[in-house]
Amino acid sequence: MPATSPLPARAERPAAPAPPPAHVAIIMDGNGRWAAARGLPRIAGHRAGGQAVRRTIEAAIEQGVGWLTLYAFSSENWRRPEAEVKDLTGLLRHYLKSEVAELSANGVRLHIIGERDRFSEDIQLALREAESLTSANRRLNLTIALSYGARDEIVAAARRAAEAARAGRLDPAELDEAGFSAFLSTAAMPDPDLIIRTSGERRLSNFLLWQAAYAEFVFTDVLWPDFGQAHFAEALAEYARRDRRFGARPA
Ligand code: IPE
Ligand code: IPE
Ligand code: MG
Repeated sequence: MPATSPLPARAERPAAPAPPPAHVAIIMDGNGRWAAARGLPRIAGHRAGGQAVRRTIEAAIEQGVGWLTLYAFSSENWRRPEAEVKDLTGLLRHYLKSEVAELSANGVRLHIIGERDRFSEDIQLALREAESLTSANRRLNLTIALSYGARDEIVAAARRAAEAARAGRLDPAELDEAGFSAFLSTAAMPDPDLIIRTSGERRLSNFLLWQAAYAEFVFTDVLWPDFGQAHFAEALAEYARRDRRFGARPA
């Protein structure tokens, strides 16, 4: 044995811990099934889902994730029975009253994407107030997708680009990916690095179609109301094991 052991070969050195994803987006699914499994009305699942949102925001802050985007209500969810839509908008109104001050105290900046004008005036006002109250916060950028549909968003962006071209503010020949992104509702946000979907479904359901181009996906069977800190940490650990190549040659 030599007196000094040689340095381990490069590949054997412990790898530096991978940085956490800058932006995690979550399709929060399974509230209804959670409630049904307990013989409860669907609204009970949505309420319990609200607690999971709290836990997830805490987990994101703890793990140093700077951007968290939560899919809370899709543009297609308006097709649900009127009573459920009413329950969901009622819960939204309730959370806007009860949670925003605490979010702000915790350094959370709130941003809403989606067709907010489909909600009642009082909700639209509360959304605007929540955004302006939290606008100087920097610890966590929390985006809630409400009445959000990615195809709608892309069509709206195309419309805005076309209007800019007609007004002479944009040369169509100069429009590139970055330029087009600036017309989307996510213009100021990085693309999601990791998209988590709960409840065992494996689809995007019209969520962030453009922005997800190179996202990593983690699907879990956990129903959203059961989701917590440990599941969030597990998803981040799974992300850390992925080899993101962005189309380039493997290292
Ligand atoms: C997610 O849970 C919440 C919303 C889509 C508003 P669901 O209500 O979709 O629950 P499942 O999928 O029926 O279990
Ligand atoms: C997707 O869930 C939307 C949200 C989680 C807000 P859905 O439950 O509406 O999706 P589908 O209908 O199963 O695709
Ligand atoms: Mg669902």
